[in-house]
Amino acid sequence: MPEPLIKPIQLGDNLTIEHPVALAPMAGVTNWPFRLLCREMGCGLVVTEFVSDKAILFDSKRTQEMIELLDEERPAGIQIFGADADEMARAAVRVVELQQPDLVDINMGCPAPKVTKGRGGSSLLKEPDTAEEIIRRVVRAVAPLPVTVKIRIGWDANSINAVEMAKRVEAAGARMLTVHGRTREQHYSGNADWEVIASVADAISLPVIGNGDITTPEQAAHRLRTSGVAGLAIGRGAMGNPWIFRRTAHYLETGELLPEPDARERVETALRHLQMMIAYRGEYIGVREMRKHAAWYLKGLYGSAAVRDRVNQTETPDAMRDVLLRYLEQTEQYALEQAGAADLEVEAPQSCDAYSEDGPGCEVEGGLGAQFPDCVAKGE
Ligand SMILES: Cc1cc2nc3c(=O)[nH]c(=O)nc-3n(C[C@H](O)[C@H](O)[C@H](O)COP(=O)(O)O)c2cc1C
Repeated sequence: MPEPLIKPIQLGDNLTIEHPVALAPMAGVTNWPFRLLCREMGCGLVVTEFVSDKAILFDSKRTQEMIELLDEERPAGIQIFGADADEMARAAVRVVELQQPDLVDINMGCPAPKVTKGRGGSSLLKEPDTAEEIIRRVVRAVAPLPVTVKIRIGWDANSINAVEMAKRVEAAGARMLTVHGRTREQHYSGNADWEVIASVADAISLPVIGNGDITTPEQAAHRLRTSGVAGLAIGRGAMGNPWIFRRTAHYLETGELLPEPDARERVETALRHLQMMIAYRGEYIGVREMRKHAAWYLKGLYGSAAVRDRVNQTETPDAMRDVLLRYLEQTEQYALEQAGAADLEVEAPQSCDAYSEDGPGCEVEGGLGAQFPDCVAKGE
C-alpha cells in the first residue's frame, strides 16, 4: 500500500483534524454560511474571517456576529489580529469565552495597509520578537486550547524570513502553522512560492499547512507530494466552489477525478447559500452580500456573464431566486435541445470553437445574447 498523501493531524489532546484540507480564512467570504457549505463538502477545518483584537475587547456586536460558530461546522478556528501581546491575549480569552472555538489562529499575513499600519498582520513579519511574544502570550492565555498561526513568506522579496518565523512560531508554543507562499509586497500577484513553503515544512516539526493558488484536486495532490506539508488550505479556489473539498478528498483517496458540479447543483447550492445568508445577515444585507457568491457559482457556465449582471442588480431574495431559477431552466432547456440535435444527427456544433461565431460560446464573458436572446432583449 502506498503511503496516503494526507493523514489526520492531532493538535493537543482534544482536537484531531481528520482530513487536513482547510478553508483558508477570507474576510467577507468565510462567514458561517460559506464555512458550513465547505464543511458539508468535506473540508477538514474552517476558520473565521479575521477580527481585530480591539473590536473583540470593545465587545463590537458586528465582530461578535463574525465569530459566531455553529456546532455543525466544527472543527472551527477563530482568527484574530493585532500587534499588542497583552491585548491579543485578552482578545483570545474573550473569543474563547464567547464561542469555544476548537483553536485560535493568529493572523500574521494580512497585507492591508489599515492592518499593517497598526503593526498587525504581515507587519509582524518585520518584528519577529514582537510576533513571538504575541504567540507566547496567547498560547499561555488560552491553554490547553491549541493556538495556530498564519504567515506569509516575508515582507518583500528581499526579506523572505518564513523559516526564521516558523522557528519562532514553534518555540512560542503554537501547534500548527499555515504559510501563504507570497510576500506582503506581492499581495495576490505572481505565484505562491512553494519552495519556500517546502523549506518551512522541512525546518520545523509542527504540522505545516501549505497555502497558495490551489484550484484543482490535481494541484492539491501535486503540492502534497512535492512540498512535505501536512495539509493544505484553499482560499480563492473555494469561492463559488465548495465542491473542491469533496473532489480533492476523493482524488487524494482514489486517484479518480469526480466531475465538476453541473448547473443544477451550482444553482441549488447558491439558493441554499442565499437562504443561510439571509439567516445570518437579514434580507437586505444578505442579498447584497450574496451577489458576489452567486456570480462565483455561475462562473464558467454558458452565458453566465449576463446572468451575473442580472444577479448583481437584484434587491430581494425573491428576485435573486427568480434570476437563478430562470437561468437554470434556460440552461437545461438549451442542453436538452443540444442533446436532441445530436441524437437526430442534425449538424450541431462539435466544439467550443464552433459556438463562438453565433452561439453561446464557452467563454465566461460571452454569449448569453445568442443563447437566451429573449431574456436579454427584455432586460431580464
Ligand atoms: C478576499 C480575501 C480575504 C482574505 N482574508 C483573509 C483573512 O481574513 N485572514 C487571513 O489569514 N487571510 C486572508 N486572506 C488570504 C487567504 O487566506 C489565502 O492566504 C490567500 O488567498 C492565498 O490562498 P489561495 O491562493 O488559495 O486563495 C484573504 C484572501 C482573500 C482573497
